Amino acid sequence: MPLTESLSLAAVRDRLLELPHPFRKDAVQEVVRQLRPSMEELKPYLHFSDASYTRTLFYGGPRFEVLVLCWLPGQVSPIHDHAASICSMAVVQGTCTSEAYRPAGDVRPDHLAAGGEITLDATGIETFNRDEVVTVIGGDIHRVGNRPEADDDLVTVHFYLPAIRSMRCFDEHTGQCTVVEPTTLQPSF
Ligand SMILES: [Fe+2]
Repeated sequence: MPLTESLSLAAVRDRLLELPHPFRKDAVQEVVRQLRPSMEELKPYLHFSDASYTRTLFYGGPRFEVLVLCWLPGQVSPIHDHAASICSMAVVQGTCTSEAYRPAGDVRPDHLAAGGEITLDATGIETFNRDEVVTVIGGDIHRVGNRPEADDDLVTVHFYLPAIRSMRCFDEHTGQCTVVEPTTLQPSF
């Protein structure tokens, strides 16, 4: 479907606020793929750190939250699922790698408590470039980040509907589940 508009981040947030509730994955993705933020708009939310990728809050409301994530080359997220949320992620600079996993057997990762273990099968790697959007939902499991050999820093904008306060993460080698509350930074105006 052709791009119909180029929207700022504030405009995408406002369009999402107008969508019927509960949200539908396709409708969310259709709005988010129109995101074309200016660097001026993003600047207060851009925080790069040698220690880790960073997440900075753009908007937090009762139905969803919007975060700007900054990744230096080689920085990746833990392997994680998406609770009961829709997560739509737009690349605004650089190239994002998403490695997908699937639980082996019948184990449902959303029934797994912290400390429990599952076996995860890697099912494929996709890359997403500037202005591309990937939308995952609920029990989809992946790890995203910026390749070590990347030439460019990566900036992604994540829409979580509803907000995910704690991330269910899985160890790459043991499959052990941990529940992590990621650090969220505030913008610096
Ligand atoms: Fe994710």
